[in-house]
Amino acid sequence: MVAHQTADPALEGEDVTVPERRLVQAASVAEVEATGMKPVNVGGSVVLLIAHEGTIQAIDNRCPHKGFPLARGTLRDGILTCHWHHARFEICSGGTFDPFADDVRTYPLEIKGEEIWVDPTPERDEVAHQRRRLQDGLKHNLRLVMAKATIGLMAEGEEPAGLLEIGGRFGATQRDAGWRDGLTILTAMANILPHLAADDRPLALFHGMLHVANSVQGQRPHFDVGPLPGGETDPERLKAWLREFAEVRDRDGVERVVLSSLQANHDAEGLADMLFSAVTDHYFIGGGHSIDFVNKAFELLDVIGWQHSPEILVSVIPGITAGTRMEETSTWRTPVDLVGLLEPVFSDLLAGRLSDGHSDGRLADADFDALIARLMGDDPTAIIRALADLLVAGVALTELSLALSFAAALRVARFHLSNEFNDWVAVLHTFTSANATHRLLKRAPSLEGARAIWHSAMDLYLHRFLNAPAARQPSDTCVAGLPTGGNELLANLLELTDGRQRVEEAAATTYHYLKGGYDDAPLLATLGKTLLREDGEFHSYQMLEAGLGLYLELRGRRPDLAPTVLVAVARYLAGHAPTDRATTQTYRVAARLQAGGALMAD
Ligand code: FES
Repeated sequence: MVAHQTADPALEGEDVTVPERRLVQAASVAEVEATGMKPVNVGGSVVLLIAHEGTIQAIDNRCPHKGFPLARGTLRDGILTCHWHHARFEICSGGTFDPFADDVRTYPLEIKGEEIWVDPTPERDEVAHQRRRLQDGLKHNLRLVMAKATIGLMAEGEEPAGLLEIGGRFGATQRDAGWRDGLTILTAMANILPHLAADDRPLALFHGMLHVANSVQGQRPHFDVGPLPGGETDPERLKAWLREFAEVRDRDGVERVVLSSLQANHDAEGLADMLFSAVTDHYFIGGGHSIDFVNKAFELLDVIGWQHSPEILVSVIPGITAGTRMEETSTWRTPVDLVGLLEPVFSDLLAGRLSDGHSDGRLADADFDALIARLMGDDPTAIIRALADLLVAGVALTELSLALSFAAALRVARFHLSNEFNDWVAVLHTFTSANATHRLLKRAPSLEGARAIWHSAMDLYLHRFLNAPAARQPSDTCVAGLPTGGNELLANLLELTDGRQRVEEAAATTYHYLKGGYDDAPLLATLGKTLLREDGEFHSYQMLEAGLGLYLELRGRRPDLAPTVLVAVARYLAGHAPTDRATTQTYRVAARLQAGGALMAD
């Protein structure tokens, strides 16, 4: 590329080079002035030349909204109006008055004698522009804008972390009520990105952005209270304060402690421990959502960087201070007082009489299976005791949480369709809270946090009748009628989830694919596709992400159990499909426009 020195005085002293213009002869001034506007083909792009108050302007002929040819628009007083959805553009800068449409690209030109020469290279930094558009889309909840920006950024080579930083920080700071489904979905989609088909990855992040924007719309932003102006930095003292303030639902006090702890540079594990303790000081807060939100906030920070902790971690505090405490509900008190059963065990646990929290004993397969059977049973006293006894025997906390996560997935796999549709959510909540507990214990093992194992175990117990009767498992199902061949089974799974409530067939297809010994990577991508083509409800994203994570963890250790996890995922997704698929339709429009196509053209 030929380059020349710039003459910009603002850059005096710097040796800056700019690319030389690639000017292409486009039309004569007289031709443009004769009609006022003239579309011309310049270097493969259709550029609209406009005669305006003695000047010539060059803009993209494609409306940036949906590609309508702007040459068919109306020019008045320096404003060009597109007739499809009536977006208006100021023709000198390309700027729009209608944010849903985006600014139209402008092109540099020179007039040599009577001829107009156009440089078909757009004049803007595309990555900076798309980042700005993603923020615009989030702020104003503009679906197509978010889709185009997400696709555009990934096409420009932007890492998912860059997009997540924009969506995550926006969602965390612009909703005073704190972390909600949108941020969970965004983080969950980032977690499973490597397992999705390459062309589904921008779609997955678009789903996340869309839900972030939905959860923020109409909310007021959060203004933090800031850290203490110095003074106390002892982690144990700060942790004690935090728990004390959370106890009385003092949101501001908790926030100030968290921000002070961050200011004192406490490490990530210490922060995790602090919040993990606070979210387990009461029973199954927020029906399991609060612990899940805490875990997801840490996972988001792992991706975008812990320098964003002040914004992100503060957003989970309302879930801790305002969430429903299950000891205040009759379900946990009668006919069996679960809280009364748990309190002496927690007393022993916190006093270190069951474990020091650092045992690393691993369960033999038979003991792992026995624990799962116990957890699925109907005797809460025996469940509580079994977990405590295993700790005394030196079993690691994460062994218990892993078995619990599998048992919770089994509840979903056995969920009988004779239950009411809304009951799917009950078994889902147990699974996602157990999953969050497991991941938090792997991150920051603590005796306080270990109480979450018993919390989820009791929730699992309370939902035992959603497995009575239990759904037949695909391992017991005759394979007659199923196609043979891996690709055929995957196609069958997509077809089944295109229909309504073909839950057991989808489960059988998934199970027999894995039992057939086919590569599991295409199956994971197909399960992702079944969700991403839908207008997914919150819990389906959770099910997919937690299910894939647990499957991958069990795959090497317990290949006999791992398929059941994906059976649970397939059943849940099939039970919630199909939907209107408006999200996919928006995404397809954006992808087509981003690839240079037009939905309407001359
Ligand atoms: S406003 Fe131009 S295509 Fe929609």
